[in-house]
Amino acid sequence: MATRGLFITFEGMDGSGKTTQMHRLAARLRGLGRTVLETAEPGGTPIGMKIRRILLDAANQELSPTTEVLLYFASRSQNVDEWIASALDRGEIVLADRFTDSSLVYQGCGRDLGVDTIVALERIACRGLKPGLTLLVDIDAETSLARARARNLAQPHCETRMDDQSIEFHRKVYEAYHALAAREPERVKLVDGRADVDAIERQVWSIVSAYV
Ligand code: TYD
Repeated sequence: MATRGLFITFEGMDGSGKTTQMHRLAARLRGLGRTVLETAEPGGTPIGMKIRRILLDAANQELSPTTEVLLYFASRSQNVDEWIASALDRGEIVLADRFTDSSLVYQGCGRDLGVDTIVALERIACRGLKPGLTLLVDIDAETSLARARARNLAQPHCETRMDDQSIEFHRKVYEAYHALAAREPERVKLVDGRADVDAIERQVWSIVSAYV
């Protein structure tokens, strides 16, 4: 898919602070006069938000790994078709809080569905659309689970099905993110998620400013 705009994704473990960083980057870019679409997965579009509820509802314990990956890609293809592709065609900057890399590490590796399954689904759902730049906000699996559980205790809600996975699952995800960053160093840039929010914002900007 040929695009005129710039597609930047934020990736990282739950509780890495990537959402805050994405909002800060969006504000900075808008301050420079750029048009920015912010989106998130699973979710983004209204239909995607309905799919998100199924995926994250802690009551849905029977959801099979195959159903899970198809639903993440269903949300994604709706996001690409309804929002992302047209924004990029208009030359805008699109910031996404998670995209296909999340499926690669959580479902491909965490659920052991394998890279080939993710690549095949990506071809259908994203029609070749890949991020030009991915910021991987890096925290370890233990910090991630501790932050996610503290957040869920402070604000009780039912969207905890993924946070409720075992520490072994989250460690696999962590390893998979690092393997991805090692495989694609040109696209995937590591940012230290243990630094304070202002320091992380500076790291993000030092990377992104070369692209805009
Ligand atoms: P969310 O509450 O949005 O968490 P976060 O703020 O950490 O992004 O929940 C999204 C969850 O879904 C998160 O645990 C990661 C998981 N996920 C996948 O397993 N596969 C995917 O393709 C995507 C987009 C997310």
